Amino acid sequence: MPANILEEEVRKRRTFAIIAHPDAGKTTLTEKLLLFGGAIQMAGAVKARGEQRRARSDWMKVERERGISVTASVMNFDYAGRTFNLVDTPGHEDFSEDTYRTLTAVDSAVMVIDAAKGIESQTRKLFEVCRLRDVPIATFVNKMDREARDPFELMDEIESDLQLEVTPASWPIGSGSEFKGCYDLIRDRLILMDRRQGDVASEGIVCTGVDDPRIDELVPADLAAKLREDVEMIRGLCPPFDLETYRAGHQTPVFFGSAINNFGVRELLLGLAEYAPPPRPQKADGRAVEPVEGKVTGFVFKVQANMDPNHRDRIAFFRLCSGHFRRGTKLKHMRSGKLLAVNNAVLFLARDRELAEDAFPGDIIGIPNHGTLRIGDTLTEGEELRYTGVPSFAPELLQRVRLDDPMKVKHLRKALEHFAEEGASQVFKPLVGADWVVGVVGPLQFEVLAARLEAEYDLKARFETAGYDSARWVECDDPVKLKSFVDSRRADLAEDHDGALVYLARNGWQLNRAQEDFPEIRFMKTREQN
Ligand code: G4P
Repeated sequence: MPANILEEEVRKRRTFAIIAHPDAGKTTLTEKLLLFGGAIQMAGAVKARGEQRRARSDWMKVERERGISVTASVMNFDYAGRTFNLVDTPGHEDFSEDTYRTLTAVDSAVMVIDAAKGIESQTRKLFEVCRLRDVPIATFVNKMDREARDPFELMDEIESDLQLEVTPASWPIGSGSEFKGCYDLIRDRLILMDRRQGDVASEGIVCTGVDDPRIDELVPADLAAKLREDVEMIRGLCPPFDLETYRAGHQTPVFFGSAINNFGVRELLLGLAEYAPPPRPQKADGRAVEPVEGKVTGFVFKVQANMDPNHRDRIAFFRLCSGHFRRGTKLKHMRSGKLLAVNNAVLFLARDRELAEDAFPGDIIGIPNHGTLRIGDTLTEGEELRYTGVPSFAPELLQRVRLDDPMKVKHLRKALEHFAEEGASQVFKPLVGADWVVGVVGPLQFEVLAARLEAEYDLKARFETAGYDSARWVECDDPVKLKSFVDSRRADLAEDHDGALVYLARNGWQLNRAQEDFPEIRFMKTREQN
């Protein structure tokens, strides 16, 4: 492929995620974004499709009962001359590790805030994850059709709470039952909300500025006056939108709207099309890889089992970082050194899954496999290179599994290894003794695991306390000192599913003691995959 075509494809790509506190409107916004992309025909399809899928898969009962979205998926759609990849993030705090890894695969994010609630706990946590990687964020203040807080107060809260410069991209005219629409500050347009129109969004009325007399014809006098006053204040108080500062992750443009009324969604999407960054250079060991490089490279950031209950395959979500992928491209699996001919990868078009004939940097393709591909794995067209930055986190909860039928212990081990490879949990095999310990980040994950053991492996199991409260990967440059540590603490040591050494501590005191006794040993809370 000529270099300029690859460049053009890279320039068109927008790969992003939506971060939000549960209930702020992430699902609704996703649905409306897809509507614009022509990816779905009618509102409600995301949920309906979700429900069908859930009905087929037993373990997702937990998800349905709790009303949370456990799994992440990817949707690809076109709009305004751009190709968008929307990567869904699980919303529940128990799944923050998964969310963290998902955010390694995007180039920007949209933060959805409920206009009546402002910044909530989960918004803050997810934002911190984005900040770690300087992911640029556009903000969507949702539910303006309901009683909302004062927009200046909301902007202030975002700025002070998240330490992030804010600049409004649109400005609301009234709120609650008085909400009339927004003034698009970027494109100087008046966009009025028509509550009867449902899913059809008006194009907006082009204005010469906020003084345009047409505004007085369309908006009640008091609201028009307030709009002019507000805009004057904004221009005095807020910094103008600055592309570089936004792309560096230091400024957020704020859009106001109402996802359920399909209002403000087009402006958000146009904003992303115009300003959100195309695929960025990705850090690998040794060098940064430019997306326009000719050879394919990328990494696996998620593995998911049972997406299709008819096939027991796992799907590895592979983020393409450079090159032009074609069906059948042979990729080298860096961890094993083996070549994979990728013939059956899928692109996640929002309507359906479709075989990926072509994919470009920023795209995410699903590669079905039987467990060869793991989170953090790098695939290339031959170059010796490894992507970094897809970590494992030390689990905060550790338990043992008890089987109702002890004869099935081999099956149990296989299942636990599968879960660990998927990144759904971690498994530690003690150096002494036979009871494996399972580690997770949030307590709900144990319920999900128990439900999956039963549904997918026909194993009835309970999780019980293991007596440990923390796990740390251990490393030491001096093999003699490492051996002496292992000899003295053998009873509290285990191996993870990759064979890496892990110290399991019963309490904080014990962990401190081990650190004091063995100062040369590094006790690590995170581990880079591979
Ligand atoms: P989430 O994925 O972030 O958890 O939020 P979701 O989209 O499911 O929205 C949470 C609730 O807020 C839903 O109501 C949804 O209809 C409502 N909502 C979303 N956007 C808007 C908006 O712009 N204005 C108003 N007034 N409501 C909005 P629900 O009653 O919990 O669910 P449902 O029965 O409507 O599906």
